[in-house]
Amino acid sequence: MKKIAVLTSGGDSPGMNAAVRAVVRSAIHFNYSVAGVRFGFKGLIEGDFIELSSSDMSGIIQIGGTILKSARSQEFLNEEGRAEAARQLREKGIEALIVIGGDGTFQGATLFSQEHDVTVVGVPATIDNDLIGTDETIGYDTALNTAMDAIDKIRDTADAHDRLFLIEVMGRDSGFIALETGIASGAELILLPETLKNIDQIKSTLKEILSSHRRSTLVVVAEGDETGGALKLSEQLGDDFKKYDMRVSILGHIQRGGSPTAHDRVLASRLGFEAVQAIHEGHSQVMVGVVNHRAKITPLKMTFGRKKEINFDLVELSKVLR
Ligand code: F6P
Repeated sequence: MKKIAVLTSGGDSPGMNAAVRAVVRSAIHFNYSVAGVRFGFKGLIEGDFIELSSSDMSGIIQIGGTILKSARSQEFLNEEGRAEAARQLREKGIEALIVIGGDGTFQGATLFSQEHDVTVVGVPATIDNDLIGTDETIGYDTALNTAMDAIDKIRDTADAHDRLFLIEVMGRDSGFIALETGIASGAELILLPETLKNIDQIKSTLKEILSSHRRSTLVVVAEGDETGGALKLSEQLGDDFKKYDMRVSILGHIQRGGSPTAHDRVLASRLGFEAVQAIHEGHSQVMVGVVNHRAKITPLKMTFGRKKEINFDLVELSKVLR
């Protein structure tokens, strides 16, 4: 019986548990046994493994976070750390590893597989949606809905006071969350790292928006925007905007938690299965994704390092509808 291992690594995202569940149950379907590695690559180096059975997967599809825990491992960045991880796998008779995570996870996993000839398959899970090779990553849809709910609530209070709000959403290097939550919540202005602009342009656009008759004005800012985020932007806007009773709201880690949406649960279930099937078919150093509704395999090293394009049609749409 072939033995495989599964881990979750990097920033968690809603739907990781649904993916672990799908990996375990699909592995059993293919007659493999599965070990769970706790705390990502850190646990791999430390040999923190647990056997996973089908019944262990009961009642987790709807839970946010990750039952396997997650971590960012400094040791795995070193050759010695990765060598120890390979030794742990060999010692336990594990032939293949499924890594559920984002770009940092896949970079480490690629090196690991190249150096130690271990079969590795990636499952894309990050709220940032910034991996090439899949239209959407696991957790992105849930994060969008969480952020949209929060922004709707801010709209109520902003309306009550006719205020200007700068709302920061997550996205260290990318504007996917900002763009779609901005549109979904009817934000008047959306600031993304992908659309270059200077502070003078932002001031004049904002003045134009504020001069038209409105109850409230919401600016959605991606964490990774070149303005430096909502707080820094408020400092740069300065006195010119004082009369609008400006407030800053940083949504933060609530965007990473919560029960996954139906969309994320189905995506995670599909990709968990595809990952095991990829191993079964002899693939390694690949990521499984869904592109135009169809399952697709992409070489792991092609999924990170380059910027995944946002939809510029949506950027234009947001300007028309503001
Ligand atoms: O999961 C991705 C992400 O949410 C980024 O958008 C954000 O910058 C980062 O994680 C923060 O993660 P942590 O607080 O775990 O370092």
